[in-house]
Amino acid sequence: MTGGLDLDAILGEIAADMAREEDRGKVADYIPGLAGVDPRHFGIAVVLADGSMHVAGDADVPFSIQSISKVFALTIALGKVGDQLWRRVGHEPSGSAFNSIVQLEAEHGIPRNPFINAGAIVVSDVILGGSRPTEAIGEILRFTRHLASDESIRIDEDVAKGEKETGFRNMALANYMRAFGNLDHAAEDVLQVYFNQCALSMTCRQLAMAGRYLMAGGAHPDTGHNVVSALRARRINALMMMCGHYDGSGEFSFRVGMPGKSGVGGGILAVVPGIASLAVWSPGLNDRGNSQLGALALQQLAVATGWSVL
Ligand code: DON
Repeated sequence: MTGGLDLDAILGEIAADMAREEDRGKVADYIPGLAGVDPRHFGIAVVLADGSMHVAGDADVPFSIQSISKVFALTIALGKVGDQLWRRVGHEPSGSAFNSIVQLEAEHGIPRNPFINAGAIVVSDVILGGSRPTEAIGEILRFTRHLASDESIRIDEDVAKGEKETGFRNMALANYMRAFGNLDHAAEDVLQVYFNQCALSMTCRQLAMAGRYLMAGGAHPDTGHNVVSALRARRINALMMMCGHYDGSGEFSFRVGMPGKSGVGGGILAVVPGIASLAVWSPGLNDRGNSQLGALALQQLAVATGWSVL
């Protein structure tokens, strides 16, 4: 599937097209750490199964990965409690906004999936386990560095602080689930973990590297060891496909046809199993909180390469 493709030329053309786009969406402005990001940025990185890396644009500029971290957090939580996790969080698309609370009442405090905020907060509770929030945060950071084989990945303290100062909805979600008995720890401790994982700062290159295990049937390409089983990698990809863009997941699947996970920092991680791990970043968001040009760039890439799981 990659023979004969001039990926560097394709990516260069996409970056040039995106630079010309005037309708770039709206940069998230609920915290200063995100509001100050220049909407003209665009970066893309593709790692192939043979290990080769192809980039264009601002592929080496760090950005806040936000909800993309929910993929790595889910992977850690599954490693800790396995399929028991599915008693506390579902695996169905929500069709609701990422921070919605409405379904929780009728569904007894069990979030629809691990990628909406409520589900990710349950996942943080699982990762917290018997440790302190700072230890759980350290575990998520170390795991992400391991996936990307890159020790320079950091958490942006300003962003983490901003999340805490404005995270009233997340506090409400956490307390509401605690009332249903679906949170074992104090909301404040769980959210300290959640806010810090959202504040992970990564480049497209690092993010594409971190997604390799989902391309490679769960194996870490640098060690050959399994990060997760092939079945679990497939399930994480399925969740990304169905729920990775919240109430915009159907639209993303319709246009791009790959498992993908977005974040309000404007990043998207996408996977073509067996072929490629991709990351794209453009800070402007559409009305569902997903990167406007990120999705457009991936759509263009899917057309140029024929890559799709469908
Ligand atoms: O929980 C929040 O509001 C943010 N820290 C993360 C949300 C996010 O990235 C949702 N994505 N589209």
